[in-house]
Amino acid sequence: MKIIDGKETAKAIKKEIALEVGKMIDNDETGPHLAAVLVGDDPASQTYVGAKEKACKEVGMVSSLYKFPQDVTEKEILDIVDYLNSDEEIDGFIVQLPLPEHIDENKVLERINPAKDVDGFHPMNFGRMALNLPAYLPATPYGIIQLLERYKIETKGKNCVVLGRSHIVGSPISILLSRKASPGDATVTVCHSRTKNLKKIASQADILIVAMGQPEFVTAEMVKKGAVVIDVGIHRVPSDETKSGFRLIGDVKYDEVVGKASFITPVPGGVGPMTIVSLLQNTLKAHKKEIYP
Ligand code: GUN
Repeated sequence: MKIIDGKETAKAIKKEIALEVGKMIDNDETGPHLAAVLVGDDPASQTYVGAKEKACKEVGMVSSLYKFPQDVTEKEILDIVDYLNSDEEIDGFIVQLPLPEHIDENKVLERINPAKDVDGFHPMNFGRMALNLPAYLPATPYGIIQLLERYKIETKGKNCVVLGRSHIVGSPISILLSRKASPGDATVTVCHSRTKNLKKIASQADILIVAMGQPEFVTAEMVKKGAVVIDVGIHRVPSDETKSGFRLIGDVKYDEVVGKASFITPVPGGVGPMTIVSLLQNTLKAHKKEIYP
């Protein structure tokens, strides 16, 4: 069994990014600039956006944050998107999700200029990804793909089961792994809340990707011996054993599954750090106009 160390992998990629950004700055060029729009005071969203800003700083990128109260109007959010679309100093930006219910998320995402959509959530980028054309890949699936690549995990011809069909993770990772590409060329099954025999299907997977948002849902009996297990879940639970009073767990019962898997991502320190680094990579691509020349 091998633990997939997302923290170390992310650190190595960040070093590569920092080198490239450092060279730009040494040459008196402006470095990449990422902006984020944050609405309301959801603690998880605040944590994610804070981590993204910190990561930008670590690699020498500029970041700016546009914060709005929970009762902001849809028009105000569309206006800030228009502004960020037109500001030439900003290479890419994200609108942190979820948005409050009175704001139409799809309308906001569709308003983003696809060339600045470093989250890869715009239908143009999602469609281009599905067609195997150059596109910004959504950060979490992109991070998973890079872990599979760096750990030399073969996906061609493998039985891959994805638990979850969200627009952010389940759906795009299932598309990426079934594409004619490397990593890719897998036979992918997507399971969700209406799937019959989900446990049995999961237990037949060579590669099991778990992104359903249910703490410790996957038990040892749902995992084939020697399977690769990628855990996308992250949940805070109370704990007497830590100073903070909580600890983080995933969608997989790690202690049970770890002995059965050939590779497994821990929580924390697995997929999470890769999500952030993938966003930095997309921002660098935006700055270099790699996807939309
Ligand atoms: N909410 C949860 N994950 C994400 C993400 O990757 N990007 C954005 N914008 N919002 C999120």
